[in-house]
Amino acid sequence: MRTSATGCNHLRVSSSGLDVSSEAQTQAPLPRSLPLEDFHRLRELALAKTGIDLAENKRSMLYVRLLRRLRSLEITTFEEYFTQLEKLGGSELGHFVDTVTTNLTYFFREPHHFRHLKEVALPSLAAQKSRQEPLRVWSAGCASGQEIYSVAMTLVDFKRRAPFEYRLLATDIDSTMVTRTSNGIYSKEEMRGLQPAQRERWFTELKSGQFQAEAKLRQMIKSRKHNLFERWPIQNPVDIIFCRNVMIYFNQEHQSKLIENFAKQQAPGAMLYVGHSESLQTGKQWYERVSNTAYRRK
Ligand SMILES: C[S@@+](CC[C@H](N)C(=O)[O-])C[C@H]1O[C@@H](n2cnc3c(N)ncnc32)[C@H](O)[C@@H]1O
Repeated sequence: MRTSATGCNHLRVSSSGLDVSSEAQTQAPLPRSLPLEDFHRLRELALAKTGIDLAENKRSMLYVRLLRRLRSLEITTFEEYFTQLEKLGGSELGHFVDTVTTNLTYFFREPHHFRHLKEVALPSLAAQKSRQEPLRVWSAGCASGQEIYSVAMTLVDFKRRAPFEYRLLATDIDSTMVTRTSNGIYSKEEMRGLQPAQRERWFTELKSGQFQAEAKLRQMIKSRKHNLFERWPIQNPVDIIFCRNVMIYFNQEHQSKLIENFAKQQAPGAMLYVGHSESLQTGKQWYERVSNTAYRRK
C-alpha cells in the first residue's frame, strides 16, 4: 500500500472514539535530487529521441518535472523510472518527451514577423497562388498553437483583399500540445498578445472562463504530432515556415540538419521565420536575411 508523501504518523480512532493509537506508516521517500549519472542517461535519451540538448543547468528543472511523473506512476526511484522507460514499449517514452519539452508561446509573439508576413511575404507569395496550388504555411514546433492561430488571423484579413487557397499545418513532438492546438482552448493568461478586438472577433468565452477559437479558425488548421528529426509528413514545397524558439534547444549538428531539410522543403522566394535568439549561420548558402530573424530561400 502506498502511504502519504510525508510518511507521517497517522492517528487511528477506536470504535469508542476515545482510544487513539498512532500508526507509523513507512514510505520510501521520493529522491531529493537527480543524480548526475541519471541526468546524463536521460540527457542522452532526450538527445536521441528529440534532438533536445539539455544543458547541465537544466538538471534541477528535469528533476522537478520528473518528480511529477514518478508520483503519477506511483514509483519512488529513478531506477524504477528507467525500467518503466524500457519496459512499456514506448508509452512512457512519449511522457518523457513531453517532460523535456518547453512549450512557452503566446499570440503574435515577435510581432515584427506578423508585420512582415502581412506587408511583404503574403503580398508576394499569395499573388502567385491558385486554387490548384495553395499557399502552404507550417508552424514547426507549434506548442499550444498560438503561433498558427496568429498566422490564421493574419491570413483571413489578407485573403479578403486577394482571394487564394491555403493549407495551414501545425506540428509538435509533444502530443499534449498537438491536442491543445486542435482544440484551440486557452486560459485568460494564455490570451496574452491578442488585442481586445481580436479576442472579441475570434474567440468565444466558455463557461469555464477559458476562451476557444472560433470553428472557422480551427477548421483552417491541421495539427499533427511530428518529430522534426523523423520523416516529414509533407510532400509539397512549403511557402512559409515558422520554426521559432525551437532550434534553440538543439545542438549545432541538429540545427544544421534541420535548416538543410527546411531548405530542401522550400522553393526560391519562400520564407523561414526563426526565433529572436536563433540565426541561420549554417544556412547561408540557402537563405538570405531579409528582415529581423526572417529569411528568404535563395
Ligand atoms: C518554446 S516552444 C515554441 C513555440 C512557438 N513556435 C513560439 O515560438 O512561440 C518549442 C516547441 O518545440 C517543440 N519541439 C521540441 N523538439 C521538437 C522536435 N524534435 N520536433 C518537433 N517539435 C519539437 C516543443 O515540444 C515545444 O512545443
